[in-house]
Amino acid sequence: MREEEVVDDMVGASPAICAVFDMINKVAMTEMPVLLTGETGTGKELTAQAIHARSRRKHGPFVPINCGAIPENLLESELFGHERGAFTGAVQQKKGKLEAADGGTLFLDEVGDLLPSLQVKLLRFLQEGTCERVGAQETLRVDSRVIAATNVDLKSAIDQNRFREDLYYRLGVLHIHLPPLRDRGEDALLMAMVFLKQAAVAAHKPIRGYSAQAIDALRAHSWPGNVRELSNRVRRAVVMSEGEEITRQDLDLAGEDLQAADSLDSLRAAHQRIETELLVQALSLHHGNVSRIARDLKVSRSTLYRKLRQYGLEKFIPTGARPAGTAKITRKRAVGALAHENGAVMHEEASVGVPMEPASRLP
Ligand SMILES: Nc1ncnc2c1ncn2[C@@H]1O[C@H](COP(=O)(O)OP(=O)(O)OP(=O)(O)O)[C@@H](O)[C@H]1O
Ligand SMILES: [Mg+2]
Repeated sequence: MREEEVVDDMVGASPAICAVFDMINKVAMTEMPVLLTGETGTGKELTAQAIHARSRRKHGPFVPINCGAIPENLLESELFGHERGAFTGAVQQKKGKLEAADGGTLFLDEVGDLLPSLQVKLLRFLQEGTCERVGAQETLRVDSRVIAATNVDLKSAIDQNRFREDLYYRLGVLHIHLPPLRDRGEDALLMAMVFLKQAAVAAHKPIRGYSAQAIDALRAHSWPGNVRELSNRVRRAVVMSEGEEITRQDLDLAGEDLQAADSLDSLRAAHQRIETELLVQALSLHHGNVSRIARDLKVSRSTLYRKLRQYGLEKFIPTGARPAGTAKITRKRAVGALAHENGAVMHEEASVGVPMEPASRLP
């Protein structure tokens, strides 16, 4: 993957997530709907935002609506709007989310929860670009791109006649599946580093990394809540931490499904695993200082750079310290509500490249 293709906002270097980044880049410039699937917390909403941000509609609105969270009787009016007097309580005309997303992107979350009558209306919008507000006579033409997401299996919903097959095919021409974190190799460690950096900065704590046992625990855990769980555990650990290092206890992962020694790694896989682990540890210990890491790991700087590139870890080296021509930082991470302090939400943004350093703004 070329550097320019790396997706803003999203962390990961595993082949599984790189394939997703690739897809995001490919689908972003089209106007077609996109269907995002994946377990809870795998990054479907973040992916929808990344697609929007890379599309021609990026200056238009990104409007999310969660079809599963809105009572059925309100959803039609939320989505398509209503005219004054359309129903009791409709005291004035109201635009729906679809209209609000005109010129931008509508993110239809939990699309599997749409009632059949609304599925028909959505299908018609996707086919013809038109819809009506509830109670309206006139037809509206709306220019919104639809990105839909679901963590239920739409195919089985189709089998049970709960989801229209024609809508599924219309929505799912471009389909991106977000892999669970347990299938993303060392990405959990990478993300743990990035989230730690952000959380430590937000909490004003001088935490420099993870203990060896904490790294073992991070690697052994199966992450049923995926990236959201990882991010929450790291933020909690930063609050709990009393030292310079996050411990296994801080992560509250003590004694959890530590890897059973029932299957043998290939020598090569074991080698890669140990190398990544050591590199992540050294990076967090030395704040990305290349000379110190090379000295500690007893390798030359050039071998170190080669290894960091091999494992997608070069972004943890401060830009100035990299040899010319290695890696531009094209990947930045925007962090939304990182911490609530005195009731206020602190908005911090951090660049991924430099562990434990203040953030730069996303353009
Ligand atoms: N690749 C990633 N890099 C960094 N942060 C990520 C990544 N993927 C997800 N996250 C973060 O993890 C959290 C969950 O992501 P998101 O809300 O997009 O998941 P989701 O698939 O929509 O979950 P749900 O199905 O529960 O709605 C968010 O805080 C998001 O910023
Ligand atoms: Mg979501």
